[in-house]
Amino acid sequence: MTSSTVLRSIIAHHKRTLSSCSLSSCRPLQTIQTTSRGIPLACLNTHPSLRMASTSANAKFTRDALFDLKGRVALVTGGGSGIGLMATQALVANGAKVYITGRTKEKLETVAQKYSQGSDSIIPLECDMGDKSQIDSLVKEMSSREKCLCILINNAGISSKTFQTESSSADEMKSNLFDNEDSTFQDWSETYNTNVSSVFFTTTAFLPLLQKSSELHPGWSSTVINISSISGMVKTAQHHFAYNASKGATIHLNRLLAAEIASSGLKIRVNSIAPGVFPSEMTSDGSGEDQKSHIPKDKYAEKVPASRPGKDEDMAQAVLFFAANQYLNGQTLAVDGGYTLAAGL
Ligand SMILES: NC(=O)c1ccc[n+]([C@@H]2O[C@H](COP(=O)([O-])OP(=O)(O)OC[C@H]3O[C@@H](n4cnc5c(N)ncnc54)[C@H](OP(=O)(O)O)[C@@H]3O)[C@@H](O)[C@H]2O)c1
Repeated sequence: MTSSTVLRSIIAHHKRTLSSCSLSSCRPLQTIQTTSRGIPLACLNTHPSLRMASTSANAKFTRDALFDLKGRVALVTGGGSGIGLMATQALVANGAKVYITGRTKEKLETVAQKYSQGSDSIIPLECDMGDKSQIDSLVKEMSSREKCLCILINNAGISSKTFQTESSSADEMKSNLFDNEDSTFQDWSETYNTNVSSVFFTTTAFLPLLQKSSELHPGWSSTVINISSISGMVKTAQHHFAYNASKGATIHLNRLLAAEIASSGLKIRVNSIAPGVFPSEMTSDGSGEDQKSHIPKDKYAEKVPASRPGKDEDMAQAVLFFAANQYLNGQTLAVDGGYTLAAGL
């Protein structure tokens, strides 16, 4: 019912039954405030049909409508722990079917067992995202199971070796960063391969399935969400130059992919979430039986304006926002409790 239809029905209702209106808020007209059309204001506010009308006018603004992912197929790389697991749970809890990949079968199976909502809602597939032929096989496997891919989260990532950067002389800095036997081209290449090249190859390999999703679902554009990092934004090396440089590259790659995909006329959005500090196998001592990790709250009390590490819910809300918002393309958003404010860009 449109609001003008409702208004007409209320006016008619009041013309007929003004003195005996069953609504308790309706009193004789002369004692109460009325609208220019003679409708008691109190009645207008409480009339059931009007309440219903305003509820239905707002229906598209409810959280269920805004973030509904029912029927969507997603793939989360590195979905067996940390941020990938948070993303997986956020997608599954809002209706999506989620494929998760990683190199460790047991981790993936534990996640599927513990966090599925209904059969086949989380599907574990072993895959090394740093290997082009394995990515190719993954695409073939998913194409044989699904008509399309609606949400791709390139989350799999590794850290590089860490080094002391603070030095009191040029010789000391050289010794820390060059002479150290852990400081190798190989460390840089491995980090880059997983954090950057893999994002490129995974995204380009899935383009046809992603485009299919936009074609099959009018009003929806499929989406790639790249998990970069505030480490690719801040001016400090945080003791791992290679990791930070790789994440800077992830952020730029995100923009390049978004631009080239859009200019080729494909309907696939590409965005990036740059997390601050979240508990994961990378940032803590591994994970528990539930594949969850823990960082003591006070560890970041001084470093982050939020005075705490990120929570599952903080990441989940960001993932849903990027997955559902159809007007977001080419962006990187820091979800960091203010880490970049404190650390400086
Ligand atoms: N946690 C943070 O504070 C934070 C902050 C900023 C950015 N990030 C980024 O968030 C992403 C997730 O990391 P995380 O912190 O959640 O750490 P994590 O718990 O170690 O998760 C990374 C996941 O990626 C998987 N993985 C690594 N290399 C892979 C490969 N070649 N192929 C397939 N899977 C692979 C790992 O599983 P397997 O080893 O079993 O393969 C692991 O489950 C990374 O890109 C990371 O750089 C994290």
